[in-house]
Amino acid sequence: MSTATDTPSSRAPGPGPAAQREPVLSVRDLRTCFEQRHATVQAVNGVSFDLHAGETVGLVGESGSGKSVTGYSLLGLIDAPGRIAGGSVRLDGEELVGLSSQGLRAVRGRRLAMIFQDPMATLNPVLTIGAQMALALQAHGYVPRAQARARCVEVLRQVGIPDADRRLEAWPHQFSGGMRQRVAIAIALLHKPQVIVADEPTTALDVSIQAQILTEIHQLVRDSGTALLWISHDLATVAAIAQRVLVMYAGRIVEEGPTRAVLKAPRHPYTAGLLGSLPQSSTPGQPLTQIPGAPPPLDALPAGCSFADRCARAEARCREQAPPRQSDGERAWRCHFPLHHADAAAVPPPSRAAVAPAP
Ligand SMILES: Nc1ncnc2c1ncn2[C@@H]1O[C@H](COP(=O)(O)OP(=O)(O)O)[C@@H](O)[C@H]1O
Ligand SMILES: [Mg+2]
Repeated sequence: MSTATDTPSSRAPGPGPAAQREPVLSVRDLRTCFEQRHATVQAVNGVSFDLHAGETVGLVGESGSGKSVTGYSLLGLIDAPGRIAGGSVRLDGEELVGLSSQGLRAVRGRRLAMIFQDPMATLNPVLTIGAQMALALQAHGYVPRAQARARCVEVLRQVGIPDADRRLEAWPHQFSGGMRQRVAIAIALLHKPQVIVADEPTTALDVSIQAQILTEIHQLVRDSGTALLWISHDLATVAAIAQRVLVMYAGRIVEEGPTRAVLKAPRHPYTAGLLGSLPQSSTPGQPLTQIPGAPPPLDALPAGCSFADRCARAEARCREQAPPRQSDGERAWRCHFPLHHADAAAVPPPSRAAVAPAP
Protein backbone atom coordinates (compact mmCIF):
# COMPACT_ATOMS: atom_id res chain seq x y z
CA MET A 1 0.00 0.00 0.00
CA SER A 2 1.25 3.42 -0.85
CA THR A 3 1.39 5.88 2.01
CA ALA A 4 2.58 9.43 2.30
CA THR A 5 5.86 8.22 3.80
CA ASP A 6 6.56 6.20 0.65
CA THR A 7 6.74 9.35 -1.43
CA PRO A 8 9.59 11.55 -0.24
CA SER A 9 8.98 14.06 -3.05
CA SER A 10 8.25 17.19 -1.10
CA ARG A 11 6.70 18.98 -4.07
CA ALA A 12 3.75 16.61 -4.27
CA PRO A 13 1.04 17.67 -1.83
CA GLY A 14 0.19 14.01 -1.34
CA PRO A 15 -2.25 12.61 1.18
CA GLY A 16 -1.57 12.00 4.84
CA PRO A 17 -0.45 14.22 7.67
CA ALA A 18 2.19 16.73 6.64
CA ALA A 19 4.45 15.54 9.45
CA GLN A 20 4.99 12.25 7.59
CA ARG A 21 6.40 13.89 4.47
CA GLU A 22 9.76 15.51 3.86
CA PRO A 23 9.49 19.24 4.50
CA VAL A 24 10.15 21.53 1.56
CA LEU A 25 11.65 24.14 3.91
CA SER A 26 13.43 23.18 7.07
CA VAL A 27 14.62 25.86 9.49
CA ARG A 28 16.83 24.89 12.43
CA ASP A 29 18.07 27.07 15.28
CA LEU A 30 18.05 30.19 13.11
CA ARG A 31 19.71 33.17 14.80
CA THR A 32 19.70 36.66 13.37
CA CYS A 33 21.13 39.61 15.22
CA PHE A 34 21.83 43.28 14.68
CA GLU A 35 25.16 44.54 15.97
CA GLN A 36 24.83 47.88 17.67
CA ARG A 37 27.56 49.99 19.16
CA HIS A 38 27.19 48.72 22.72
CA ALA A 39 24.91 45.74 22.38
CA THR A 40 23.65 42.99 20.12
CA VAL A 41 19.94 42.83 19.29
CA GLN A 42 18.86 39.18 19.15
CA ALA A 43 15.91 39.56 16.79
CA VAL A 44 15.64 35.86 15.90
CA ASN A 45 16.88 33.65 18.69
CA GLY A 46 16.97 29.97 17.79
CA VAL A 47 13.92 29.50 15.58
CA SER A 48 13.13 26.06 14.17
CA PHE A 49 10.19 24.90 12.05
CA ASP A 50 9.28 22.95 8.93
CA LEU A 51 7.07 23.84 5.99
CA HIS A 52 5.53 21.14 3.82
CA ALA A 53 4.36 21.40 0.23
CA GLY A 54 0.82 22.74 -0.01
CA GLU A 55 0.77 23.71 3.64
CA THR A 56 0.06 27.16 5.07
CA VAL A 57 1.75 27.93 8.38
CA GLY A 58 0.97 31.10 10.31
CA LEU A 59 3.70 33.02 12.15
CA VAL A 60 2.06 35.30 14.73
CA GLY A 61 3.15 37.56 17.52
CA GLU A 62 3.01 41.14 18.67
CA SER A 63 4.83 43.84 16.78
CA GLY A 64 8.60 43.59 17.32
CA SER A 65 8.63 39.87 18.09
CA GLY A 66 10.92 39.08 15.13
CA LYS A 67 8.45 37.84 12.51
CA SER A 68 9.67 40.02 9.63
CA VAL A 69 13.32 39.43 10.46
CA THR A 70 12.59 35.69 10.38
CA GLY A 71 10.98 36.07 6.94
CA TYR A 72 13.84 38.17 5.57
CA SER A 73 16.40 35.75 7.01
CA LEU A 74 14.85 32.85 5.08
CA LEU A 75 15.43 34.73 1.83
CA GLY A 76 18.89 35.99 2.81
CA LEU A 77 17.63 39.58 2.86
CA ILE A 78 19.45 40.70 6.01
CA ASP A 79 21.79 43.62 5.49
CA ALA A 80 24.51 45.00 7.79
CA PRO A 81 24.49 45.72 10.70
CA GLY A 82 22.30 42.62 10.71
CA ARG A 83 23.61 39.13 10.11
CA ILE A 84 22.56 35.52 10.36
CA ALA A 85 24.62 34.42 13.33
CA GLY A 86 23.79 30.74 13.14
CA GLY A 87 21.45 27.98 12.19
CA SER A 88 20.25 26.41 9.01
CA VAL A 89 17.63 27.06 6.34
CA ARG A 90 17.24 24.16 3.94
CA LEU A 91 15.12 24.45 0.82
CA ASP A 92 14.44 21.00 -0.58
CA GLY A 93 17.62 19.85 1.15
CA GLU A 94 19.80 22.71 -0.11
CA GLU A 95 21.41 24.88 2.57
CA LEU A 96 20.71 28.59 2.01
CA VAL A 97 22.59 30.02 5.01
CA GLY A 98 26.05 30.97 3.82
CA LEU A 99 25.11 30.82 0.13
CA SER A 100 26.78 33.52 -2.02
CA SER A 101 24.64 36.46 -3.13
CA GLN A 102 24.69 34.96 -6.62
CA GLY A 103 23.48 31.64 -5.26
CA LEU A 104 20.73 33.38 -3.30
CA ARG A 105 19.60 35.37 -6.32
CA ALA A 106 19.19 32.12 -8.24
CA VAL A 107 16.84 30.83 -5.51
CA ARG A 108 14.99 34.02 -4.63
CA GLY A 109 11.94 34.72 -6.77
CA ARG A 110 12.22 31.38 -8.53
CA ARG A 111 12.00 28.77 -5.74
CA LEU A 112 11.40 30.99 -2.73
CA ALA A 113 9.38 34.21 -3.07
CA MET A 114 8.29 36.93 -0.69
CA ILE A 115 5.24 39.17 -0.58
CA PHE A 116 5.79 42.32 1.48
CA GLN A 117 3.30 44.40 3.43
CA ASP A 118 3.97 47.32 1.08
CA PRO A 119 3.56 46.22 -2.55
CA MET A 120 5.81 49.09 -3.61
CA ALA A 121 8.69 47.14 -2.03
CA THR A 122 8.21 44.83 -5.03
CA LEU A 123 6.93 47.23 -7.69
CA ASN A 124 9.01 49.75 -9.57
CA PRO A 125 7.00 52.98 -9.97
CA VAL A 126 8.60 53.90 -13.30
CA LEU A 127 7.92 50.65 -15.14
CA THR A 128 4.62 49.40 -16.51
CA ILE A 129 3.19 46.30 -14.84
CA GLY A 130 3.98 44.30 -17.98
CA ALA A 131 7.59 45.50 -18.13
CA GLN A 132 8.36 44.64 -14.52
CA MET A 133 6.64 41.29 -14.71
CA ALA A 134 8.65 40.48 -17.85
CA LEU A 135 11.85 41.47 -16.01
CA ALA A 136 10.97 39.27 -13.05
CA LEU A 137 10.24 36.38 -15.39
CA GLN A 138 13.45 36.85 -17.41
CA ALA A 139 15.58 37.17 -14.24
CA HIS A 140 15.96 33.40 -14.18
CA GLY A 141 16.54 32.71 -17.86
CA TYR A 142 15.28 33.60 -21.31
CA VAL A 143 11.59 33.19 -22.01
CA PRO A 144 10.29 33.98 -25.52
CA ARG A 145 8.30 37.21 -25.58
CA ALA A 146 4.91 35.77 -26.47
CA GLN A 147 5.28 33.03 -23.87
CA ALA A 148 6.32 35.58 -21.22
CA ARG A 149 3.32 37.75 -21.96
CA ALA A 150 0.98 34.78 -21.79
CA ARG A 151 2.39 33.77 -18.39
CA CYS A 152 2.03 37.32 -17.03
CA VAL A 153 -1.59 37.49 -18.17
CA GLU A 154 -2.24 34.07 -16.68
CA VAL A 155 -0.97 34.98 -13.18
CA LEU A 156 -2.70 38.37 -13.21
CA ARG A 157 -5.96 36.54 -13.92
CA GLN A 158 -5.21 34.08 -11.15
CA VAL A 159 -4.94 36.90 -8.64
CA GLY A 160 -8.24 38.37 -9.77
CA ILE A 161 -7.13 41.26 -11.99
CA PRO A 162 -9.79 41.76 -14.63
CA ASP A 163 -8.84 42.68 -18.16
CA ALA A 164 -5.29 41.47 -17.47
CA ASP A 165 -4.12 41.77 -21.08
CA ARG A 166 -4.79 45.51 -21.15
CA ARG A 167 -3.58 46.06 -17.56
CA LEU A 168 -0.05 45.04 -18.56
CA GLU A 169 0.35 48.49 -20.12
CA ALA A 170 -0.63 50.30 -16.87
CA TRP A 171 1.72 51.84 -14.29
CA PRO A 172 1.56 51.00 -10.58
CA HIS A 173 0.19 54.46 -9.67
CA GLN A 174 -2.87 53.73 -11.79
CA PHE A 175 -3.78 50.84 -9.46
CA SER A 176 -5.48 50.90 -6.07
CA GLY A 177 -3.60 49.56 -3.03
CA GLY A 178 -5.45 46.24 -3.26
CA MET A 179 -4.71 45.92 -6.98
CA ARG A 180 -1.04 46.75 -6.43
CA GLN A 181 -0.84 44.01 -3.80
CA ARG A 182 -2.48 41.59 -6.26
CA VAL A 183 0.23 42.44 -8.80
CA ALA A 184 2.95 41.86 -6.18
CA ILE A 185 1.33 38.48 -5.42
CA ALA A 186 1.20 37.72 -9.15
CA ILE A 187 4.95 38.44 -9.39
CA ALA A 188 5.58 36.11 -6.45
CA LEU A 189 3.64 33.38 -8.28
CA LEU A 190 5.34 33.87 -11.67
CA HIS A 191 7.91 31.11 -11.26
CA LYS A 192 5.64 28.74 -9.32
CA PRO A 193 7.93 28.90 -6.26
CA GLN A 194 8.08 26.05 -3.79
CA VAL A 195 7.73 28.42 -0.84
CA ILE A 196 6.13 31.85 -0.45
CA VAL A 197 6.79 34.02 2.60
CA ALA A 198 3.97 36.56 2.95
CA ASP A 199 4.74 39.30 5.48
CA GLU A 200 1.44 40.91 6.55
CA PRO A 201 0.41 41.30 2.89
CA THR A 202 -3.16 42.36 3.67
CA THR A 203 -2.57 44.44 6.81
CA ALA A 204 -2.59 47.79 4.98
CA LEU A 205 -5.75 47.00 2.97
CA ASP A 206 -9.46 47.58 3.60
CA VAL A 207 -11.10 44.78 5.54
CA SER A 208 -13.25 43.60 2.61
CA ILE A 209 -10.28 43.56 0.20
CA GLN A 210 -8.24 41.81 2.92
CA ALA A 211 -10.76 38.98 3.08
CA GLN A 212 -10.88 38.59 -0.71
CA ILE A 213 -7.11 38.50 -1.10
CA LEU A 214 -6.80 36.11 1.84
CA THR A 215 -9.22 33.65 0.23
CA GLU A 216 -7.51 33.96 -3.14
CA ILE A 217 -3.99 33.39 -1.82
CA HIS A 218 -5.24 30.42 0.14
CA GLN A 219 -6.77 28.83 -2.96
CA LEU A 220 -3.75 29.59 -5.11
CA VAL A 221 -1.23 27.96 -2.80
CA ARG A 222 -3.47 24.99 -2.13
CA ASP A 223 -4.02 24.37 -5.84
CA SER A 224 -0.34 24.75 -6.73
CA GLY A 225 1.16 22.80 -3.84
CA THR A 226 3.17 25.84 -2.75
CA ALA A 227 4.08 26.10 0.93
CA LEU A 228 3.09 29.41 2.47
CA LEU A 229 4.50 31.08 5.57
CA TRP A 230 1.80 33.59 6.50
CA ILE A 231 3.24 36.25 8.81
CA SER A 232 0.69 38.30 10.72
CA HIS A 233 0.02 40.00 14.03
CA ASP A 234 -3.63 39.13 13.37
CA LEU A 235 -4.74 35.76 14.72
CA ALA A 236 -8.01 35.96 12.80
CA THR A 237 -6.28 35.79 9.39
CA VAL A 238 -4.07 32.96 10.63
CA ALA A 239 -7.13 31.07 11.88
CA ALA A 240 -8.74 31.49 8.47
CA ILE A 241 -5.94 30.02 6.35
CA ALA A 242 -3.19 28.29 8.33
CA GLN A 243 -3.20 24.60 9.17
CA ARG A 244 -0.43 25.15 11.71
CA VAL A 245 0.58 28.15 13.74
CA LEU A 246 3.90 29.30 15.20
CA VAL A 247 3.57 31.83 18.01
CA MET A 248 6.60 34.09 18.27
CA TYR A 249 7.69 36.13 21.26
CA ALA A 250 10.96 38.03 21.73
CA GLY A 251 12.68 36.17 18.90
CA ARG A 252 11.56 32.66 19.87
CA ILE A 253 8.76 30.30 18.89
CA VAL A 254 7.01 29.91 22.25
CA GLU A 255 4.14 27.75 21.05
CA GLU A 256 3.32 25.79 17.90
CA GLY A 257 0.82 23.25 16.70
CA PRO A 258 -2.31 22.73 14.61
CA THR A 259 -4.05 26.12 14.46
CA ARG A 260 -7.37 24.86 15.70
CA ALA A 261 -5.96 23.09 18.72
CA VAL A 262 -3.65 25.95 19.68
CA LEU A 263 -6.35 28.60 19.43
CA LYS A 264 -8.93 26.47 21.17
CA ALA A 265 -6.75 25.54 24.12
CA PRO A 266 -3.48 27.50 24.18
CA ARG A 267 -0.70 26.06 26.35
CA HIS A 268 1.43 29.18 26.55
CA PRO A 269 0.05 32.10 28.59
CA TYR A 270 1.34 34.43 25.86
CA THR A 271 -0.85 32.72 23.25
CA ALA A 272 -3.79 32.94 25.64
CA GLY A 273 -3.02 36.64 26.04
CA LEU A 274 -2.97 37.15 22.27
CA LEU A 275 -6.35 35.44 22.03
CA GLY A 276 -7.68 37.75 24.70
CA SER A 277 -6.60 40.65 22.49
CA LEU A 278 -8.69 39.46 19.54
CA PRO A 279 -11.38 42.01 18.69
CA GLN A 280 -13.99 39.27 18.21
CA SER A 281 -13.50 37.87 21.69
CA SER A 282 -14.62 41.02 23.44
CA THR A 283 -18.09 42.41 23.66
CA PRO A 284 -18.77 45.17 21.13
CA GLY A 285 -18.02 48.53 22.69
CA GLN A 286 -15.71 47.02 25.30
CA PRO A 287 -11.99 47.78 25.08
CA LEU A 288 -9.74 44.91 24.00
CA THR A 289 -7.98 42.96 26.67
CA GLN A 290 -4.32 43.81 26.23
CA ILE A 291 -1.43 41.79 27.56
CA PRO A 292 -0.07 44.04 30.30
CA GLY A 293 3.49 45.32 30.00
CA ALA A 294 5.84 45.22 27.03
CA PRO A 295 8.28 42.67 25.58
CA PRO A 296 11.83 42.75 26.99
CA PRO A 297 14.52 44.67 25.09
CA LEU A 298 16.06 42.29 22.56
CA ASP A 299 19.56 43.53 23.36
CA ALA A 300 19.22 42.58 27.05
CA LEU A 301 17.08 39.45 27.20
CA PRO A 302 16.44 38.10 30.70
CA ALA A 303 18.06 34.85 31.81
CA GLY A 304 14.72 33.12 32.33
CA CYS A 305 11.51 33.15 30.34
CA SER A 306 11.21 36.33 28.25
CA PHE A 307 7.50 36.49 29.07
CA ALA A 308 7.86 36.11 32.86
CA ASP A 309 7.52 39.83 33.63
CA ARG A 310 4.13 39.95 31.93
CA CYS A 311 2.83 36.55 33.00
CA ALA A 312 0.28 36.04 35.76
CA ARG A 313 1.49 32.42 36.22
CA ALA A 314 5.18 33.22 36.59
CA GLU A 315 7.08 31.84 39.59
CA ALA A 316 10.71 32.20 40.69
CA ARG A 317 11.81 29.40 38.35
CA CYS A 318 10.49 31.32 35.33
CA ARG A 319 12.84 34.22 36.06
CA GLU A 320 15.82 31.93 36.59
CA GLN A 321 15.63 29.32 33.84
CA ALA A 322 14.63 29.72 30.21
CA PRO A 323 11.92 27.11 29.66
CA PRO A 324 13.03 24.36 27.27
CA ARG A 325 10.90 23.31 24.32
CA GLN A 326 8.44 20.63 25.35
CA SER A 327 6.32 18.64 22.96
CA ASP A 328 3.57 16.07 23.00
CA GLY A 329 4.04 15.25 19.32
CA GLU A 330 1.85 17.61 17.33
CA ARG A 331 2.11 20.53 19.72
CA ALA A 332 5.06 22.19 21.41
CA TRP A 333 5.53 25.03 23.90
CA ARG A 334 8.19 26.75 25.95
CA CYS A 335 6.69 27.28 29.38
CA HIS A 336 7.43 25.92 32.86
CA PHE A 337 3.76 26.13 33.83
CA PRO A 338 1.74 25.57 30.67
CA LEU A 339 -2.02 25.95 30.68
CA HIS A 340 -4.08 22.80 30.61
CA HIS A 341 -7.55 22.45 29.21
CA ALA A 342 -9.26 23.22 32.48
CA ASP A 343 -7.11 26.37 32.87
CA ALA A 344 -7.83 27.33 29.29
CA ALA A 345 -11.47 27.84 30.20
CA ALA A 346 -10.31 30.62 32.46
CA VAL A 347 -8.92 32.64 29.55
CA PRO A 348 -11.38 34.48 27.32
CA PRO A 349 -12.61 31.97 24.72
CA PRO A 350 -11.70 32.79 21.14
CA SER A 351 -14.64 33.69 18.93
CA ARG A 352 -16.14 31.18 16.52
CA ALA A 353 -14.33 32.97 13.68
CA ALA A 354 -11.02 32.56 15.47
CA VAL A 355 -11.36 28.81 15.84
CA ALA A 356 -12.97 28.09 12.49
CA PRO A 357 -11.26 25.15 10.84
CA ALA A 358 -8.84 26.11 8.10
CA PRO A 359 -10.91 25.69 4.93
N1 LIG B 1 17.66 47.10 10.94
C1 LIG B 1 17.55 46.82 12.24
N2 LIG B 1 18.46 47.26 13.13
C2 LIG B 1 18.36 46.97 14.45
N3 LIG B 1 17.38 46.22 14.99
C3 LIG B 1 16.46 45.77 14.16
C4 LIG B 1 16.47 46.03 12.75
N4 LIG B 1 15.40 45.42 12.18
C5 LIG B 1 14.75 44.81 13.19
N5 LIG B 1 15.38 45.00 14.36
C6 LIG B 1 15.00 44.47 15.67
O1 LIG B 1 14.31 43.26 15.47
C7 LIG B 1 13.10 43.26 16.19
C8 LIG B 1 12.09 42.46 15.47
O2 LIG B 1 11.69 43.16 14.31
P1 LIG B 1 10.63 42.59 13.31
O3 LIG B 1 11.05 41.25 12.82
O4 LIG B 1 10.45 43.64 12.27
O5 LIG B 1 9.32 42.44 14.20
P2 LIG B 1 7.84 42.04 13.75
O6 LIG B 1 7.87 41.80 12.27
O7 LIG B 1 7.49 40.85 14.56
O8 LIG B 1 7.00 43.22 14.12
C9 LIG B 1 12.74 44.72 16.36
O9 LIG B 1 12.03 44.94 17.53
C10 LIG B 1 14.08 45.41 16.43
O10 LIG B 1 14.52 45.42 17.77
MG1 LIG C 1 6.88 42.80 10.74
